[in-house]
Amino acid sequence: METIRLLVDNNSNSEKSYTQAVDLLNNGEVVAFPTETVYGLGAVATNDRGVKKIFEAKGRPSDNPLIVHIGTIEEVANFIEEIPENALKLMDTFWPGPLTLIMKAKPGILAPSVTAGLTTVGMRMPDHEVALDLLRKLKKPVAAPSANRSGKPSPTKAEHVEEDLKGRIPLILDGGATGIGIESTVLDITVNPPVILRPGGVTKEMLEEVIGEVIQPTKLQEKLDSTPKAPGMKYTHYAPNAPVYLIESDQMTVSEAISKLSNKGEKIALLAPLSFENLGADFFFPYGEEGDQEMMSSKLYDDLRACDKTQATIILATTTSIQGVGAAIMNRLEKAAGGNWYK
Ligand code: TXA
Ligand code: MG
Repeated sequence: METIRLLVDNNSNSEKSYTQAVDLLNNGEVVAFPTETVYGLGAVATNDRGVKKIFEAKGRPSDNPLIVHIGTIEEVANFIEEIPENALKLMDTFWPGPLTLIMKAKPGILAPSVTAGLTTVGMRMPDHEVALDLLRKLKKPVAAPSANRSGKPSPTKAEHVEEDLKGRIPLILDGGATGIGIESTVLDITVNPPVILRPGGVTKEMLEEVIGEVIQPTKLQEKLDSTPKAPGMKYTHYAPNAPVYLIESDQMTVSEAISKLSNKGEKIALLAPLSFENLGADFFFPYGEEGDQEMMSSKLYDDLRACDKTQATIILATTTSIQGVGAAIMNRLEKAAGGNWYK
């Protein structure tokens, strides 16, 4: 299959690109598009044939449910049995934006593969002009996971989607680099207090300001079986080809690690703040200024992917505090590293 990439900006050709995307979606095909978090790979959420193509293109396990994207808050009622009061407050405050709400689905409306056998569904309204234009022209819900091959870092640029899915999907709407760079917060609002299944751009603190207590399970709690989790969080994630090791964000520690690893003949890629540039790593990918977590989240997946274009045999990634959006960044870094720290 030929994969076409179409730029969508404010030029006059954009209308044609949207029409092409809408036609493909209506015909049960998949289309990749940008959101404010990462690129998504969408299909009409009521079309099981289309949704199955998402799983095929990504190589995604079929027990991992998809997020349903909508263009207006009113549409939620079409798919949700009973919208909790708290959910309405959160939609009012954070939509459009990087917050996915897990609620009880009305049976028999969404394609069965969207919910992967669960009685609940995650919904969100993305805060990106291209995504919203597409949804509002289509006037249908779009099921969309991140547009990467399963296991790889999520795509934050159309080029990343091409790297992973060229030849497997018909169309990529190219809206440039996404802003936030890591996926939405997933909040299970079917339980009380609500539980964060995946940390993201909307933090625990931000949620609590609107609805009161919210649980963010610790790593230990996540390991205990009784704690609810997003099915997808159990799979390998965000993994470049070379092994990733987490390391404290301290120049002495990193410098010593680089010397030791170099002596062993390793080729080292370093992901760290700008000020770590001259510590002798073979390849250096700066997160931005030390402590700039917004920059770090927007660059993280691009940096992890860039390591695959080098001869690095090992990747060292410095960590950040788990305050605010740092919780989401550390969640992704820990998964990319498979929990491994440099010792
Ligand atoms: O920012 C995002 O959320 C992006 C963009 C494209 O919107 N999408 C995204 O989708 O990250 P995906 O499929 O890569 O991740 C969705 C996560 C998975 O971990 C999945 O298991 C979980 O949300 N999830 C989806 N529906 C769920 C449900 N009903 N109950 C529990 N977890 C659910
Ligand atoms: Mg994903």
